[in-house]
Amino acid sequence: MIKCDNLYYSYEDYQYNKVEVLKALSFEIKEGEKVILLGINGSGKSTLLKILNGLIVPQSGTYSFKTKEVNKKYLKQHNQTFRKEVALQMQDPSSMLFNATVHDEIAFGLKHFGFDEIESRVHHWAKLFEIEKLLHTSPLSLSGGQKQKVLLASLLCVEPTVLLMDEPTAHLDPPSTGWLVDFLGELNVTSLIATHNLNLGRELGQRAIVLGENHELIYDGSVEALLEDMSILIKAQLVHQHKHNHNGVEHKHFHLHSWT
Ligand SMILES: Nc1ncnc2c1ncn2[C@@H]1O[C@H](COP(=O)(O)OP(=O)(O)OP(=O)(O)O)[C@@H](O)[C@H]1O
Ligand SMILES: [Mg+2]
Repeated sequence: MIKCDNLYYSYEDYQYNKVEVLKALSFEIKEGEKVILLGINGSGKSTLLKILNGLIVPQSGTYSFKTKEVNKKYLKQHNQTFRKEVALQMQDPSSMLFNATVHDEIAFGLKHFGFDEIESRVHHWAKLFEIEKLLHTSPLSLSGGQKQKVLLASLLCVEPTVLLMDEPTAHLDPPSTGWLVDFLGELNVTSLIATHNLNLGRELGQRAIVLGENHELIYDGSVEALLEDMSILIKAQLVHQHKHNHNGVEHKHFHLHSWT
């Protein structure tokens, strides 16, 4: 469904020098697969998700969606169908909320893609995310977690087949995180979810793609095997070490912390 072949992406710095943030990326995601995307800050996860959502196009290499190369021409010709199928929840929910009310935010995509029974759909999704009481509030006046719920409801209500998520649980409290993880587990979509929360890894996907500090793919395999492989976890800097005390003896070793 999704195929990246030797993909490179670079930004320009303030002196117009190219800074590569994705290098030689090749991987495939089949229909129905649930994959997590890991890597330290700045490794390129959000950039990759933007490419997969067609917001930016790689300078070299190819990204194909359903065997068609997603380039500027493809996006021009298939913009509506591609946007309907592939949804991206960006890392910062505020950057994606632009309507006057929560109601209008959820209704926006439904209207844009020509859905029927808009009112009942808006209420269905608002109820699911427990944001019914906020329907007539401005999204800008909400808390981070509430914004995240509004954003997810507005993306999911148009029933995308591919869901790209950038830290979906970042702003959520433990009950909402648990609910979302269960909900995503049952959702019939192909997904790629960037997360720093390794404890949720197993719940969010069966397979992991890991970007290294040098912006190359350093692991593509089962989440289970990754969590058992301390050498890859250290290489990817997904574990950290700090000093601590065991029976009066101070020492250091690598930890996989439980952040939830
Ligand atoms: N619009 C931009 N212009 C210039 N550089 C950018 C831009 N967006 C991202 N970068 C740079 O590209 C690199 C990768 O950024 P990206 O946001 O993809 O990383 P990330 O893996 O999502 O990090 P995080 O875990 O912090 O969210 C970083 O060094 C970042 O500074
Ligand atoms: Mg990011």
